[in-house]
Amino acid sequence: MPSPHDTLAPRISAAIAAAFGEDFRDADPVLRPSQFADLQVNAALALSKRVGMPPRKVAESIVEHLDVADLCSGVEISGPGFINVTLADSWIAAAVVEMAGDPRLGVEIQPQLVIPIDYSAPNVAKEMHVGHLRTTVVGDALARTLEHLGHRVIRQNHVGDWGTPFGMLVEHLLDVGEGSEAARLVETDPNAFYAAAREKFDGGAEFADRSRARVVALQAGDPETVRVWESLLGLSKKYFNRIYSTLGVTLTDADLAGESMYNDDLASICDELQAKGIAVESEGALCIFMDEFTGREGKPVPLIIRKSDGGYGYATTDLATIKYRVERLHADKILYVVGAPQALHFQMVWAAARLAGWLPSDVVPIHVQIGNVLGEDKKILRTREGVALKLMALLDDGVTKARAYVDEARPDLSETERATIARQVGIGAIKYADLSVAHDSAYVFDLDRMVSLTGNTGPYLQYAAARVRSIFRSAGEDVTGVPRAVEVREPAERALGLQLLEFGSVVRHVGHELEPHRLAAYLFELAQAFSSFYEHCPVLKAEGSVRESRLALCSLTAAVMVQGLDLLGVETPTEM
Ligand code: ARG
Repeated sequence: MPSPHDTLAPRISAAIAAAFGEDFRDADPVLRPSQFADLQVNAALALSKRVGMPPRKVAESIVEHLDVADLCSGVEISGPGFINVTLADSWIAAAVVEMAGDPRLGVEIQPQLVIPIDYSAPNVAKEMHVGHLRTTVVGDALARTLEHLGHRVIRQNHVGDWGTPFGMLVEHLLDVGEGSEAARLVETDPNAFYAAAREKFDGGAEFADRSRARVVALQAGDPETVRVWESLLGLSKKYFNRIYSTLGVTLTDADLAGESMYNDDLASICDELQAKGIAVESEGALCIFMDEFTGREGKPVPLIIRKSDGGYGYATTDLATIKYRVERLHADKILYVVGAPQALHFQMVWAAARLAGWLPSDVVPIHVQIGNVLGEDKKILRTREGVALKLMALLDDGVTKARAYVDEARPDLSETERATIARQVGIGAIKYADLSVAHDSAYVFDLDRMVSLTGNTGPYLQYAAARVRSIFRSAGEDVTGVPRAVEVREPAERALGLQLLEFGSVVRHVGHELEPHRLAAYLFELAQAFSSFYEHCPVLKAEGSVRESRLALCSLTAAVMVQGLDLLGVETPTEM
């Protein structure tokens, strides 16, 4: 069920072709909603030079050849050559009915691509920070949306589970005793565990020596060491999973694809790069120098793939992720939802992978850059009230704030009901705040604003959906009933209908451009269109076919709101 834009665009193209010949057919003529019309066509300006006619004449010619009698009630030329199109009320009404009868609500299945998506990726035995919160929330929204569009999404949680600190961490775990209270900190307060290990490492040569020996044993695959390392991972997994289930994200243990998974590939990656002459030894390290990556004074920046001590690093592992995702997962597109500061790292890794022939030109790697989350002081949010920030405490605070609202607004509900709504609203507020800004721009973490019921917030949208449901409860009707007929007469009805019809193209756009904030903005506009409709068009007090029609618009609004929020990973309470 194409949107007004998608229905009109081919007609405009056809008219251009009919007027000026096939050579001038415009696959995607510029059409946008404007103050003066439902859609404004802005094609004449660009065409005028090519066909050597004044823009207004071009516009007249297009209109003469335009076949839209079934679709439009008015076509007018304005200004220098804009074509203002008013859609027919009857067309909007019929399209709304069609959309309401479509279980996919107008979201068309796309030709399937295989898309591994690397997101979340916290580090073992460390606290997840707000940056990890953001990649988790944005990555999950993208995974859900791409899956809904019909793609084969393969979640890859590239957790940091390898490297020299693990000698120290394993040794500390053995010291405090597996199963002890101090060991359980990995699960409840990972930074405290890490800090305790670090302190011992910095404070005593004996522990530091044992830790270094432990790294060697771990790398050599000593069974006892590997077992303890695995138990450390197990504890961390419990911590990650508690955060994931609180957030309601779709990641499971099956999606874990940590750094250690690639250990066996690293030596051969280095050998192959060296044999191909792509990597060279420099000051004892194995490095790749590429002309396009230069630092100060034009000196090439090295991509180090084997350190002088023989150890491999983050870059080597990421070369392995490319190989794995291309060769084994058969990726068409590879998404890395990772902090913006890692942009150079990925560019260098991809360029190296292309040189090595591991990244064919038809496979597109994309860095979905994650911007910073800031505190009120506009610096990266790391502490709260002077103490190191704990992600779980932050999420709990969101729920507590929402709970205060629910207790006040709905004393009639049971304790369990209020607890459920508070969780949905508090967590939804935090996730939505993250998703409503472009993923690569920074935002200030302000819980009070996030849980507010006004403005572009999660609770405002959840409330809009809950309100529609309550209308149906009062009417004693089923919210999912398929409408028999819809009429759009009032401006607010038209505006709501038109907004509903855009859903499919917005979701498709989110899948193409990887911009969940577009869906958030769309849903916010939908909630506003609904508010204004509800204010101007009585629903339950209306009668006959008008009542039926308005209930149908309400029902479709609820369906789109619930589906849209679900694609973002935000739950909708049945009442608020
Ligand atoms: N663990 C890393 C971090 O915390 C993120 C890993 C992102 N994924 C990747 N393939 N490099 O910064």
